[in-house]
Order: sequence, then C-alpha cells, then structure tokens
Amino acid sequence: MEFNIKSGSPEKQRVACVIVGVYETRKLTLAADLLDRISNGFVSDVIRRGDMEGKLGSTLVLHSVPHALCDRVMLVGLGKERDFRAKEYREAIRSSIKALAQTSANEAVSYLSELPVKKHEVEWSVEQATVVTLDTLYRFDRFKSRQDEASRGLRKLTLAVPRRSDLADGEKGLARGLAIGNGMKLAKDLGNLPGNVCTPDYLAEQARELAKNLGAEAEILARPEIEALGMHSFLSVAKGSLEAPRLIVLKYWGAKDKSEAPLVLVGKGITFDSGGISLKPGESMDEMKYDMCGAASVLGAFQASAEMKLPLNLIAVVPSCENMPSAGALKPGDIITSMSGQTIEVLNTDAEGRLILCDALTYVERFNPGCVVDVATLTGACVVALGHIATGLYSNQDALARELSAAGEEVGDRAWHMPLWEEYQELLKSPFADMANIGGRMGGSVTAACFLSRYAKSYDWAHLDIAGTAWKSGKDKGATGRPVPLLVQFLQDRADIALGNVVRRGRPRREVPEAAEDDAD
Ligand code: BES
Ligand code: MN
Ligand code: ZN
Repeated sequence: MEFNIKSGSPEKQRVACVIVGVYETRKLTLAADLLDRISNGFVSDVIRRGDMEGKLGSTLVLHSVPHALCDRVMLVGLGKERDFRAKEYREAIRSSIKALAQTSANEAVSYLSELPVKKHEVEWSVEQATVVTLDTLYRFDRFKSRQDEASRGLRKLTLAVPRRSDLADGEKGLARGLAIGNGMKLAKDLGNLPGNVCTPDYLAEQARELAKNLGAEAEILARPEIEALGMHSFLSVAKGSLEAPRLIVLKYWGAKDKSEAPLVLVGKGITFDSGGISLKPGESMDEMKYDMCGAASVLGAFQASAEMKLPLNLIAVVPSCENMPSAGALKPGDIITSMSGQTIEVLNTDAEGRLILCDALTYVERFNPGCVVDVATLTGACVVALGHIATGLYSNQDALARELSAAGEEVGDRAWHMPLWEEYQELLKSPFADMANIGGRMGGSVTAACFLSRYAKSYDWAHLDIAGTAWKSGKDKGATGRPVPLLVQFLQDRADIALGNVVRRGRPRREVPEAAEDDAD
C-alpha cells in the first residue's frame, strides 16, 4: 500500500475514486461543494433525492460525475458538523476505506483528511487517517490456501491537506502514521499466529530479526541464564511445557546520550495459556494464544519508536513461555522464590502472568529506568470491569497514569485509571509465604496489579491490563494491535518533554502555530 500527501482541487484528480464528506442535513464540505459546482449540481441533486443524508459512517459511490476527471466520487456521511470530532473523524475514515474495498478502485484521493477536527492539526489528521486505513485493510490470511481478495484492491491512497503550506506537516503525520500502523501490524500478526507457530523461541527470533533491521541491540536469554538470574517464579510457569522459555531484551539508544535513563516496556509473553494444572474450561481456550499480546504490543511500539527515530533510550523486555499442565508442572500450593527474594504461594496456576512479570520487573531494576510500563493480558476480571473498550491502567505514580491516559485519549486507544490502594494489598496475604498469587474472586484486576506493584517499588511504574482490548472474539476474531498507538504517543510525548517542547493540559504538544490553536470545548 502506498500513501501520498497532496493539496489540490478534487475536480482535477485523475483517479479511480475521489472521497469527499457530507455533513448531516445534507451540508456539503468544501471539496464536495467544488465537485458539485463543476458538475452543475450533480452532487446536490443526488443528495436531494435522499440517498445520502450525511449520517456518520454512511457512504454512497457516484459514477460519471460530469466534468470531474475521476471515475468515481464517494460521498461519506460525517454526522452533525458541530459534533465532528476525533472519534467521528476516525469513523468516517474507517467507513470510507471499508466502502472503497467494496469497489474495484485501486487508487483514491481522500479529502476527508483536510476536514477541521476540534483540537487537532493537519499532522494529527494525516497520522490518524493513515493508522485507521492500515488498520481497516489489515487481513491475516497467511494460513489460507487462497488469499482474500478484499485487501488486494487498494494500492494507493492520497491524503489531501488544506493548503500547500500544510504539505510538510502532512508528510510528518504520514511518517508517524506509517510507523504506528506498521507497529500495530506487527503486534496483530504475532498475536494472530497460533501457539504451535508462535512459541517463545519463535517470538525471540522475531525480536532478534526486528532489532537487526532497526539497528537495535537484542539479547535473548535461555533457561541456564534465566536460572542464573534466579528467576524462579518465571521458570516455575515454564516448567510444565516442552517449549523452552526465553527472556527477550531489546535496546534502542536514540537519546543524545547513552547514559540518559531509558524508558522500559515489559510485555507478558505467554504464547499459550491453558491455565496449567488449574486448567481452564474448554470454551474459547483457543483464544489463549493471544496471551502474548502484551509482548507483541511492546515489540510493535519498539519498532515504531525506532522507525520514528524518537530521541530517547528504550528497552523492551519480554518474558516468554507456555503455561501447560504436565507431570512436571507447577502445582497449586507450591511455594516459589522470586528473583526479588520474595516468596509466593501459588494458589492458582492460571494466575501465571504475574509470576513471569514479577521477575521481569525485578530484572529491569538494573537499567535505572526513567519509568517502566508493563503490558499484559492479565485478568478476566479486567474484562468484567471495563469490557472491550478501555485498557485497565494502574500506576504507583499518578502523574505517570495521567500521561498514559492522555496519550491514549489523543490517539483513540483509551485506558482507564484504576485504584491501587493499600487496602487491596490485604487480599494477597498467605499463611505460608510472603504473598499468595491470587487475591480471591473480588477485584481481580486490582489485586493482580497489587501483586505486580510489590516488585516495582524502586522506580516509576505503570501497568496496562489489556485482557479486554488486545483482541476481538466472535465473527471479527483477531488481534487489535492495541495498545501500540497509546504506547507510541506516550513515548513521543516523553521525547517532546525531553526536547523542551510546550506542555499544555498536563501533556506536551508538538509545536502548533498560535492562530491554529482552538481552545473551544
Ligand atoms: N491470560 C489470563 C487472563 C485472561 C482471561 C485474559 C480471559 C483474557 C481473557 C490470565 O493468565 C488468567 O488466567 N487470569 C486468571 C486469574 C485468576 C486465576 C486469579 C483469570 O483472570 O481468570
Ligand atoms: Mn492464566
Ligand atoms: Zn495468562
């Protein structure tokens, strides 16, 4: 897929399809109006007949629009003009791309990207249009004997910007959008791969390859090295499986100075979670191949950051293994000693994510991190609490939580700040060890985060529970690539702060001309 940025009139585009917006109650956007004028009211005639009322997400493809040089014009409903915001903008782009895939047009110029969106500038619009387009066109058909037709249609999409002077910002947005979109694709591909292909070793080799292509460092630790580090909590989960565990460590040195404190991402890499001896019920157990989506998103964000050449030091750490039942497997009641020295009574072997993450959190202390963010499909309870809309967000530092939720908000990949209060820690008491690995049925997402917090005391830390947001079930089954956009935005914001860029509403903004600022709302 090829993307371009352009400024120019819609009636002069010699392409298979020109995409323009129509607001609700049939009000034409600037681009739609230009086409209407040149065609002597052809567009407004169609609209008057009532087939396109401008409802958000509706589309109508017109052929042979008089005097226009394109083969087709696609009208896209935008909803009410005064309600047209970030969310509506993304939805309009998404429906236009879906509708485009239904036609045989392989080239299009979209004028949706020049629409004004509250609180956002051209760079953001182009970035988001790119991300949404790549996301919408994504297919995972590697294991189909015959590849799906749908994704083959569109070859080239040109995104329009309002003025020639916006071209540079458009290009910047495009570069960012491509980096984020490709990072999401990596996360989705890894997530969608079945457990028999995406094993801990496979994940490690993919990471190694990734680092090589990005000019980053990779270190892959196998069982003997993991043992030498004393990661017995991590190893206790790996015990039941024939697949060997891996600790994946990637390092990208983008800051001016290698001594600058690195930001650290930690991803849960359980390539299949059967529950272990505390075996899960059979229904939907196949979806536990997605239990490495935390790892996948960390790798995706790492790739995007390195591709964008963000001026910061970034380290990605992924503990990876399978959670399986066998004669050699971890058992309920077993007591293990984590790398930190704290002992854990394992009451449920299905609470394995925290057992591999706690050792990774201890391991990263050696980097003196600026902050650590772990990402994990950690608890079914988080899905009960927040559904499939918001990622659960916990932190031992409120300011860090605010940064992360603001980043998610900016790119439509939202997280919700959950409590990590002392009172919840009680629930992890064990009569025999320093703590149990579960806190009972109530508040399961919170107690899981509480467990992790005990290993993250020496640095600023946040935890993202993506159990509800990393993949979709049902007819649209597949990995979502979340929270790659949130992570990349967060890292970009951190890089901006380091460069001394403007900070507004608690989060930094890339420089924006005064006149374009819009403080309404
Ligand atoms: N990987 C699961 C969490 C999960 C379950 C994510 C369903 C998405 C959908 C995790 O390892 C797990 O099994 N957690 C248990 C914890 C419980 C035993 C305290 C859970 O949530 O049931
Ligand atoms: Mn589990
Ligand atoms: Zn799990």
